[in-house]
Amino acid sequence: MKVMVVGSNGREHALAWKLAQSALVDRVFVAPGNAGTAADAENVSISATDIAGLLAFAQENHVGLTVVGPEAPLCAGIVDAFQEAKLPIFGPARNAARLEGSKIFCKKLLRAADVPTADYQAFRDEESASQYMLDRYPNGTDPTPVVVKADGLAAGKGVIVCKTRDDALRAIARIAGEREFGSAGDELIIEERLDGQEASILAITDGRTIVTLPPAQDHKPAGDNDTGPNTGGMGAFSPTPLLDAATLDWVNEHVLVPTVHGLKRGRTPFTGVLYAGLMLTNQGPKVLEYNVRFGDPECQPLMMRLKSDLAELLLAAVEGRLDQIKPLEWDPRPAVCVVMASEGYPGPYKTAFPIRGLEEAAKLDDVQVFHAGTKIVDGNVVTGGGRVLGVTALGDSISAAKLQAYKAVKCIRWHGAWCRKDISDKALNPDAMRFRWKP
Ligand code: AMP
Ligand code: GLY
Repeated sequence: MKVMVVGSNGREHALAWKLAQSALVDRVFVAPGNAGTAADAENVSISATDIAGLLAFAQENHVGLTVVGPEAPLCAGIVDAFQEAKLPIFGPARNAARLEGSKIFCKKLLRAADVPTADYQAFRDEESASQYMLDRYPNGTDPTPVVVKADGLAAGKGVIVCKTRDDALRAIARIAGEREFGSAGDELIIEERLDGQEASILAITDGRTIVTLPPAQDHKPAGDNDTGPNTGGMGAFSPTPLLDAATLDWVNEHVLVPTVHGLKRGRTPFTGVLYAGLMLTNQGPKVLEYNVRFGDPECQPLMMRLKSDLAELLLAAVEGRLDQIKPLEWDPRPAVCVVMASEGYPGPYKTAFPIRGLEEAAKLDDVQVFHAGTKIVDGNVVTGGGRVLGVTALGDSISAAKLQAYKAVKCIRWHGAWCRKDISDKALNPDAMRFRWKP
């Protein structure tokens, strides 16, 4: 079978790398891909949002399974278009992808399905949202635990965590007045701010059966010890000791199952990856957001540990027979992924710097260097994005995996390369792992 992965980041490299190992798969295309997918698969120069182009390519080349990495094509209806053309594709249809594409859709569904999440109010304009804040919080500088979010997709930037009422008024003005996030700010929500550790629970579902993957943790802020501006994710590890088996069962029963049922009841049945971003609060896990795709970089440690055949799993989901597959097999060793980024990221950065040392890093045991923002220019691998590489390693413990990942990082250099130095440290920090709530 031929498969096509849509996207060009670290997640898509990890998916293509894993799919290429499947007994069912003889060719893997990645559209548009990066320098890493060019080595492990075949790049096709069609953009991830060119649905007509992707569809034509899949038809001409008899692609037996298309796997969509990013949210934008899902929210734009790539799955609907492929299904109409009778082409197998893994991911949710446009209506169900609103779970990520509209925060209000997500919140309404969670409320109706009784899934724990932060309280919220939705607004259509700056004036009513500001008035709500002024009425509710008379003093502009008092600590005010709210988060203001643009309703639509804003590449992870439309969420503004506030300290005071005046911060919130400023956030409302940016989203609904200045329209910093364009039409994503047509509506907005003001949400109660939650405190705790964050965890990512990803599950594969065909709309009836849910296969939950081992829990992971991302590192969103740019700086060590979770300081500095937010990024797409500077590193991840899995499994995380933060969630024991009993808590995971609880999350299945109180979060994933009612969400999948709620979507089905609402006539937006969901097939694909259901990624719950959870806050582990003193009152228990609460959903911060849903994504409708694999997390990046969470996907990299998960693929590194998965021993079962990924193509078989995703095809079973597409064909609605997840209830018939064998339990997934995982490497018992944890995996840690360290993201190496361009100087300046998450702000503006330059590209096209040659990357050295990739071969040396690849020689290390239990290491995979997944590419994200890379491209090939005149036969050389050069930087082409903010997050450039996801250096991923397995180890007998989280600290051993971390050590091996950073050993590989040390082999690799380019002008301005940087990474966080503390990826996975929170797994070893008793304070950070303090989640005393029990189901
Ligand atoms: P979201 O895209 O909704 O996950 O938000 C991105 C990030 O903003 C999350 O990973 C959290 O770090 C933070 N965040 C979102 N909602 C809340 C909330 N209600 N309380 C605290 N932090 C939040
Ligand atoms: N790791 C965060 C995301 O994929 O959205």
